[in-house]
Amino acid sequence: MDTDALFKLTHGIYILGADDNGRPVGCTVDAVMQVADKPTVIALSCRNTSYTKSVIEQSGRFSLSVLGQDVDPFVVADFGFQSSRTVDKWQEVPHVTENGLPCLQNCLACFFCKVLNQQSFESNTLFVAEVVDGKNMAAGEPLTYFDYRTSFKEKVLKFLPNILNRKENKNG
Ligand SMILES: Cc1cc2nc3c(=O)[nH]c(=O)nc-3n(C[C@H](O)[C@H](O)[C@H](O)COP(=O)(O)O)c2cc1C
Repeated sequence: MDTDALFKLTHGIYILGADDNGRPVGCTVDAVMQVADKPTVIALSCRNTSYTKSVIEQSGRFSLSVLGQDVDPFVVADFGFQSSRTVDKWQEVPHVTENGLPCLQNCLACFFCKVLNQQSFESNTLFVAEVVDGKNMAAGEPLTYFDYRTSFKEKVLKFLPNILNRKENKNG
């Protein structure tokens, strides 16, 4: 298979949030899509190495913040290139919390979801979840995975040295 062909399956970019017994955790994700509208159901795929994935497995709940094209690239780097095992990522970004689930203040929309079922693969776990609440936060164009790969990634990677040098990561 020509795996480059897979990059033509494009999604949005989101910040996934979860409640680790009172500590907000999360990561950058793109593998999200709506799969039913009655009830409103989405599919989310998490890498099995992700700490956020293990928290969702235990708590059965998560939030999703939809990123706009004007999002600070630091947000994607902060959530996408380090683990909540060793870093409190949400401390770095303005956010609100609802029933323990964090949502970015600067996002286009925010969803709160309850896991209905899950399926594990060697690399990833697929969560099928009902959207229990959704909020329209701002007008704007969503950032897509295609945008990320073609231009936005360059801006995100500029934050990588800072993130990799963080004290917490050295200890992790
Ligand atoms: C643009 C982008 C898209 C990503 N998409 C996903 C995804 O769909 N699912 C996933 O599990 N990880 C995805 N990741 C990787 C996670 O964000 C990354 O592994 C993160 O460090 C996991 O953090 P955690 O251990 O705190 O959960 C993506 C990263 C980036 C930068």
